[in-house]
Amino acid sequence: MNILLDGRPEEALRIHAYMLRGGYQGLKRARQTPPQQVIEEIKSSGLRGRGGAGFPTGLKLSFIPQQEDTPRYIICNLDEGEPGTYKDRTLCEHVPHKLVEGLAICAYAIQATQAFIYCRAEYPYLVDVLKQAINQAKQENLLENLDIELRMGAGAYVCGEESALIESIEGHRGNPRFKPPYPAGQGLWQQPTVVLNVETLCNVPFILREGADAFSSVGTPDYPGTKLITLNGDVEHRGCFEVTTGTPIKEIIETVGGGVRQGRALKAIQVGGSSGGFLKASQIDTPLDFAALQKAGGSLGSGAILVLDETRDMVDLCFNIADFYRKESCGKCLPCREGCYRGWQIIRKIQQHQANQQDVENLFLLLDVMKETALCGLGQSFYLPIQSCITLFEEEFQAKLRTEVGGGERIS
Ligand SMILES: Cc1cc2nc3c(=O)[nH]c(=O)nc-3n(C[C@H](O)[C@H](O)[C@H](O)COP(=O)(O)O)c2cc1C
Repeated sequence: MNILLDGRPEEALRIHAYMLRGGYQGLKRARQTPPQQVIEEIKSSGLRGRGGAGFPTGLKLSFIPQQEDTPRYIICNLDEGEPGTYKDRTLCEHVPHKLVEGLAICAYAIQATQAFIYCRAEYPYLVDVLKQAINQAKQENLLENLDIELRMGAGAYVCGEESALIESIEGHRGNPRFKPPYPAGQGLWQQPTVVLNVETLCNVPFILREGADAFSSVGTPDYPGTKLITLNGDVEHRGCFEVTTGTPIKEIIETVGGGVRQGRALKAIQVGGSSGGFLKASQIDTPLDFAALQKAGGSLGSGAILVLDETRDMVDLCFNIADFYRKESCGKCLPCREGCYRGWQIIRKIQQHQANQQDVENLFLLLDVMKETALCGLGQSFYLPIQSCITLFEEEFQAKLRTEVGGGERIS
């Protein structure tokens, strides 16, 4: 079932083609319903955020105070900085009107008249597409009093974190804020604000048009609907695909991805981008579901799936992840600023056969501290990929220790 990618790419900017397929019917229905009821409909659909954290969308909208005399804002998060993730870009290219409609419905639900789309710096070509879609919707008088403004990022992973994103829109350096207060209470210019991912917003028109039950009848009860995945690495067919949640990862790799490249054996998968945990080949029956992946030691995150074949060196991979974090830490809080660098140093030492058991124990201690004390999700999420990689592929890490320290010591 296609809830998201149901349009023809060549019709992306033909608003009438979109309307013929039921486009803007969800918005029409929403406007015939009191805002509070729109939120209830989204709540009962079970829709959860597709940006990574999986927070229930209807609940998030319900946190915005209902009185109409205070300004409030809605922001679409199109920062998409998670490595290996390009689903939001795909949605904007293929179904930009779905995003405009979802944004207009959610703006109506919280009674906002100002919306922003925060676009990743590396996606400048989307600006024209989105502007055209917004203008077409305006010309059809579909947006009423809603203004949608586009803002560009400047190439920082941390600016996808909602409070850093808000700082960036305000014109400040894109650093995260201390929470609480949360954006629903004090967000953009200290006013109530909702930040939602592109894919989350693109699910909303279906819910309003077809009803909450139609949406929740697809996929798993815990995380209903479909999920856009970006399949990368050692598979025959890489790309962005829409799959029903609950589909086993094995089926995704074999049926959608055409199997592991060149008939090699599968070694591992990493789900959720660089901040996601690793799973071993023996775990590929795990369904694509938020809770199931967490239970298996991974995470659904943004839905990027990295397939790794038997030839891959897990120590090198771990180093690349640490290198990404080291470069992307914004430096505002000490645990992340120092921790990403020190963690990267230890992993480099392992890679160069210079580490001993004490270094590895220090690394695990560091990961624990960062998870508990880093200011935002960037520093906190350094833990999962590094910890799961070292734990699952302990032997490979041990082999790099042995040559220098004489061997035999356990490292986790
Ligand atoms: C370092 C970091 C980067 C993030 N990048 C993104 C991003 O690119 N896009 C996104 O939608 N959410 C991103 N998030 C999550 C957002 O903070 C926020 O939870 C999300 O936009 C909420 O939307 P949702 O409820 O629809 O998922 C990021 C979080 C962190 C900690």
